[in-house]
Amino acid sequence: MANNILITGSRGQLGSELSELFGKYPDYRFFATDIAELDLTDKSAIQRFIEENRIDFIVNCAAYTAVDKAEDDVDLCYKINRDAVRNLAEAAQGRACIIHVSTDYVFDGKNDRPYLESDPTDPQSVYGASKRAGEEILTTLCPESSIIIRTAWLYSIYGNNFVKTMIRLGKERSELNVVADQQGTPTYAADLAQAIMQIIDYTIRRQVFHAGIYHFTDEGATNWFEFTREIHRLAGVSACVVHPIPTAQYPTKATRPMYSILDKTKIKQTFGIDIPDWKTSLKTCIQLLNL
Ligand SMILES: NC(=O)c1ccc[n+]([C@@H]2O[C@H](COP(=O)([O-])OP(=O)(O)OC[C@H]3O[C@@H](n4cnc5c(N)ncnc54)[C@H](OP(=O)(O)O)[C@@H]3O)[C@@H](O)[C@H]2O)c1
Repeated sequence: MANNILITGSRGQLGSELSELFGKYPDYRFFATDIAELDLTDKSAIQRFIEENRIDFIVNCAAYTAVDKAEDDVDLCYKINRDAVRNLAEAAQGRACIIHVSTDYVFDGKNDRPYLESDPTDPQSVYGASKRAGEEILTTLCPESSIIIRTAWLYSIYGNNFVKTMIRLGKERSELNVVADQQGTPTYAADLAQAIMQIIDYTIRRQVFHAGIYHFTDEGATNWFEFTREIHRLAGVSACVVHPIPTAQYPTKATRPMYSILDKTKIKQTFGIDIPDWKTSLKTCIQLLNL
């Protein structure tokens, strides 16, 4: 196993956080691409890129992530979340290992205990179904050379996300209604990026690839209302009153899982990954936002 690593979707939240880590791994050669450099819907371009640059690892951070828009934009959503994953899988076969990122939205959200990797999937939205279709492609085409990491509630200093939106709205408004009956775990994309690099490092050093599905979020659990209160507390937003509301009072085009806490035992035990608590990482991110 050599050390040429392709990052796709490198200008998104997770891709940007991964790019921040390149300097920590001087033995590896990174190829950071987004749609302008490598459009994943172009199969022959992917094949050429992987061959010419002798890629050993692909970290697929590219995705169609507009969850509500996806309900009307089904074709494009599947083109990126399913068909582009097939393009990657076919081009990588026999050449490169893939680390692919998926989502808690593959589950129906009806559990009353954290979801295991082996729990049945039942996506409730177009986005969730398209991401599940991407997972199935990898487990069919390259079961021995792919790792799928399901994550949830990602935020970062990069891109648009819930943390930035709530800080902005908290400064603009005196009151906000936020859903309080959906449970999950906010996840700092920098923590996931670090975990991905640890997995690659582990694999290259030990020359062993532990293929399969894994769950990764930060530690702990909360709901969107409590998450918002913590964001405001850490960001010094004090003039906005946040009210808890039920999901029924905040209808969205796509159905979200009511419960999406993921069990992370497998990734922690397999790769020896330590995961920070969501509040600790939120504090780090908000400090970096330099408000
Ligand atoms: N965000 C969340 O809360 C969340 C939760 C659970 C799981 N995930 C998963 O985590 C992963 C990373 O999410 P993220 O929040 O970092 O996503 P993101 O910020 O939306 O970044 C995705 C990147 O992929 C690019 N892209 C779109 N189509 C492409 C194509 N055809 N070829 C190459 N690149 C393309 C996007 O470019 P454009 O911006 O130009 O489209 C964007 O830069 C995704 O797999 C996502 O499904 C995210």
